[in-house]
Amino acid sequence: MTNVLAVGQYSDIDVKALADEFGAVPLADLSQIAGLPEDGRAAVTALAYKGHHALDGQVMDLLPGLKLIANFGVGYDAINVSDASARGISVTNTPNVLNDDVADLAVALLVMESRKLTASENWMRAGNWPAEGAYPLARKMSGRKVGVLGMGRIGREIADRLAAFKCEIHYQSRSRKDAPADWTYHADPVELARSVDDLVIAVVGGPDTVGFVSAEVIDALGADGIIVNIARGSVIDEAALLDALENGRLRGAGLDVFLNEPDIDARFLSMPNVTILPHVGSATAETRAAMGDLQRQNVRAHLAGRPLVTPVN
Ligand code: GLV
Ligand code: GLV
Repeated sequence: MTNVLAVGQYSDIDVKALADEFGAVPLADLSQIAGLPEDGRAAVTALAYKGHHALDGQVMDLLPGLKLIANFGVGYDAINVSDASARGISVTNTPNVLNDDVADLAVALLVMESRKLTASENWMRAGNWPAEGAYPLARKMSGRKVGVLGMGRIGREIADRLAAFKCEIHYQSRSRKDAPADWTYHADPVELARSVDDLVIAVVGGPDTVGFVSAEVIDALGADGIIVNIARGSVIDEAALLDALENGRLRGAGLDVFLNEPDIDARFLSMPNVTILPHVGSATAETRAAMGDLQRQNVRAHLAGRPLVTPVN
């Protein structure tokens, strides 16, 4: 029996790489772990995980020899890290290699909603151009004040791109960052929202940021504002967001992440003032290959008894 499990919806290339190098046994989801024979479960020391279902102490206890959970993805909010630490299990993620893709997507979402590109594209495909002549005017995006919530590595890439769009950069994070002198720091998210036109969410997910973008933050942004979220659905009070979008208290939203993926709130599907994407922030061939490679580097380091490459605990 192998000592590496590969749990989740992996690409064929990644499954093959994990199997070829580590003899990893692929499982579609966490619920299948309980069905493995007991001696097989006892042999497992590394779990290469790719998914968003909760991986907590209950699952970890099915694998008594587990020493590593190597997550495919930068966000590891699905993994209960304190449960892992309490059991002596290391957790790794795949940071940095996806920063450019996620930042590209954040800017794309802001352009799409500001310029109403999703709505006008749908309008054109529906054959409206010849009869109606021109699509209603959108709004300018360059030069607006944009607030970046969370100035980690992805937030920084987003802000750098928006600065090139001549936007005035404001940001919120736990601490002031070493950033260009004309960027404005705000300690408080409501204060940030009050100071800007649009808001881009780039904070980490997990228990500390649930509902961080509250009704109060949304209302502080105001009816002319656009919210972009490339982080995690849990960071926004989604009921408050839907309410604001439906009642004209927000101009639009560009969303790559949702509370209940993939079964998102059906109201989003018919709203004219949102651009919705199926969690594709890092979904390019190049970046997914780099993420798989980094995940395997961590498994390799664990099996060789070397320091982990990108540990989180
Ligand atoms: C994707 O959402 C990731 O966290 O990498
Ligand atoms: C980063 O997101 C921070 O809050 O420092």
